Amino acid sequence: MTTQLITGITELTTHDPDGPTGPGPFALVVDGDRVAWTGPARDAPACDTAVDVEGRAVLPGWVDSHTHLVFAGDRREEFAQRAAGRPYTAAGIRTTVTATRAASDADLAARLRRHVAEAVGQGTTCLETKTGYGLSVADEARAARIAAEEVDEVTFLGAHLTPADTTTDEYLDLVCGPMLDAVADDVRWIDVFCEEGAFDADAAARVLAAGAARGLGGRVHGNQLGPGPGVRVAVEAGAASVDHATHLTDADVDALAGSSTVATLLPACDLVTGQPAPPARRLTDAGATVALASNANPGSCYTTSMALCVSLAVLRSGLSVDEAVRAATLGGARALHREDVGHLRVGARADLHVLDAPTVVDLAQRPGVPLTAAVWRAGRRVRPAPRLEEARA
Ligand code: NIG
Repeated sequence: MTTQLITGITELTTHDPDGPTGPGPFALVVDGDRVAWTGPARDAPACDTAVDVEGRAVLPGWVDSHTHLVFAGDRREEFAQRAAGRPYTAAGIRTTVTATRAASDADLAARLRRHVAEAVGQGTTCLETKTGYGLSVADEARAARIAAEEVDEVTFLGAHLTPADTTTDEYLDLVCGPMLDAVADDVRWIDVFCEEGAFDADAAARVLAAGAARGLGGRVHGNQLGPGPGVRVAVEAGAASVDHATHLTDADVDALAGSSTVATLLPACDLVTGQPAPPARRLTDAGATVALASNANPGSCYTTSMALCVSLAVLRSGLSVDEAVRAATLGGARALHREDVGHLRVGARADLHVLDAPTVVDLAQRPGVPLTAAVWRAGRRVRPAPRLEEARA
């Protein structure tokens, strides 16, 4: 197996309590698709190849644990209306359902690949995406199949909204029966939108139980647009995460702190939809595990930028830069029950994000500035940086 030596690292974020600390420069060795060694550059072993990142920071690739990227059509008109003052409502999901049902498999797959490539180009190396814009057995099954070919983790979100031509009870029977059967081989997770106007607590618990009976882990969209039962339902069901978690009571915060359910916060979505900033500081201080994710989707948050989420979590939610980076890497991995990503301990998947900056501080201090210099995924350099290439020539 080929070994690669990465040198010239000014700041190395490994999330390894026993990892290298103190003044750099540091080095990292990749063996095949895994991290094999980290430490001071002067102690680095010889390798088959070497890359000097020339005074840049290296951190784990982002783990984006919440996106909705199997879709067609656009929501520009809705966005323009919101920009003019109309509030966000979940009703816009129906626009995307109509366009997604009408699209070909090839179109959906091409759009998904394009958005995944956009995310990878900004340092995302592990990405979850959901169904949820099909809402029929055939369309949800198709979305799950297309997603399974392109991304690391796939979630079944048949319970996104009840389609217009059926009742909620009839639709839940479908979601928990034939639709679940049709997607089960292509997904690892089941999700439900537990919010006023979508599904109530009993419905959400039923969906999670049906998924658990098929071996799927649970996730819940909850407490996005107002207080509600989403957090309670997620914690009671032992769900891996409750996502959004913007409007929390003290009881919600305590429940999350006393559970293994990760609070996956979506700060870019809250910004775009005019919601308060997510309570990251409050949750962290209480002892809850926090993840940051993009929520990339055509309606409530059309961005794949995890760096923006980190920046917002620092600037609007009171996390330190290190806490925000941890939440966007290790936190996302915890939300997906992944041990192999989100950190750079020896044995981790070699997912490296090289910043065009000497420290992660720049991620928060320079919001909106593209700072990704290079990306390795599973030991393969997927985004070479021209400036690094020139430096080596
Ligand atoms: O996470 N909350 C529900 N679902 C998406 C919204 C998707 C849309 O507006 O299309 C969300 O924000």
